Amino acid sequence: MAGGAGARYRIEPGGDIAGELTVPGDKSISHRALMLGGIAEGNTQIAGFLAGEDCLATMRALQALGVLIERPQPQTVRISGRGLEGLRAAGAPLDMGNAGTAMRLFMGLLAPQAFDSTLIGDESLMRRPMERVAAPLRLMGADIRTREGRPPVEIRGAPRLRAIDYALPVASAQVKSAVLLAGLRAYGRTRVTEPAPTRDHTERMLRAFGVEVLREGETVALEGGQRLTGTSVAVPADFSSAAFFLVAGCLAAQRGLLLRNVGINPTRTGLLEMLQLMGAQIRVHAHRQDVLPGGEPVADIEVRKSRLKGIRVPQSLVPLAIDEFPVFFIAAAMAEGETLVRGALELRVKETDRLAAMAQGLTVLGVENQLLEDGLWIRGGSRLGGGTIESHGDHRIAMAFAVAGLAAGSAIEIRDVANVATSFPGFLEIARSAGLQIEMQ
Ligand code: S3P
Repeated sequence: MAGGAGARYRIEPGGDIAGELTVPGDKSISHRALMLGGIAEGNTQIAGFLAGEDCLATMRALQALGVLIERPQPQTVRISGRGLEGLRAAGAPLDMGNAGTAMRLFMGLLAPQAFDSTLIGDESLMRRPMERVAAPLRLMGADIRTREGRPPVEIRGAPRLRAIDYALPVASAQVKSAVLLAGLRAYGRTRVTEPAPTRDHTERMLRAFGVEVLREGETVALEGGQRLTGTSVAVPADFSSAAFFLVAGCLAAQRGLLLRNVGINPTRTGLLEMLQLMGAQIRVHAHRQDVLPGGEPVADIEVRKSRLKGIRVPQSLVPLAIDEFPVFFIAAAMAEGETLVRGALELRVKETDRLAAMAQGLTVLGVENQLLEDGLWIRGGSRLGGGTIESHGDHRIAMAFAVAGLAAGSAIEIRDVANVATSFPGFLEIARSAGLQIEMQ
């Protein structure tokens, strides 16, 4: 990992953003490609894999479960699938690092195995809620224990699960995915109903591996016992990583910035709509021909320095932009007038409490804001100050405040940035090449 726990960024104020860049592969899609490849029959090839710490944790866990995985190049992965019944006991706790997606999806994958597993993670992950996944899996007959709702997660293998019809209490793609993965080995048809649309990468990728996944309105369903067949997956660049540069472009790309090959799955691109509502100059050049194997649409996205105005964020966009709020709040701080986000309680249980962490950092930079139970109010439009920001070890908080440097009046220092490597290896170099005056200390 680049830098230790004490690693910091220092960003000199100002700068001009320009050029063309390609951010690394999508984290959500990389996790899923590894897992489905592991339980498929035959070989799977992943191109554009995100070699970030989170996905490497998933890779190592699958290896510990007996899956043969090769990585001939950093972004190319070859998996010899073991089939639905082919995993074996790991023999030691599986360490998911900082990766909530890995832990929650593995719960669904491991609950119906013939062996026991224990899942652990880093300090942040050990504080995150896991009952949201354990509860529906128990309804299927799984034997799962958490410690007061949190990891370690202890799973007693229960290979005879039954299908359930489950209405998600929170809009969570991770919970939906865990239930669907468990449903692959359950008797009957598993149905999951979402209170609002969430990212559908699991459904798309299951289809690419030959599984029949049905969509009936807000409900997604699959029949247990279906086999997966190995395939080729091309992972697009991660929209959530591109997001930092979309906002950077809005703040400082006088001559424009082009982001190449970005995944634009509509269940991920709420930020585009939010920025456009603010008046951002963004053009999406969708690739017409090549919907990638795995069924994910991609585009080149062009962004220019824009005069932003504050908005009230439509609640329907919140789950579609759930990981982008840290950097969206930076855009809001620079937008003329007031911005209000409500209905975003989920932000409090991410890698850190992202509402509190952003409110705290914005206050350091002199931005008037009010932390609400389920959201944040911001009065934007004044020049930002500088100062020292606590990232609380959260990769997206760290990168969001790095972007803020473009609009600051003096230097910004960001503490505890090592976890940027969980989702965006090479962030520093790419940010610098785009024009950010950023250094690691
Ligand atoms: C993810 C789902 C989201 C998101 C996370 C990745 C996924 O979490 O915040 O970064 O890959 O399914 P929730 O399911 O908790 O909303």
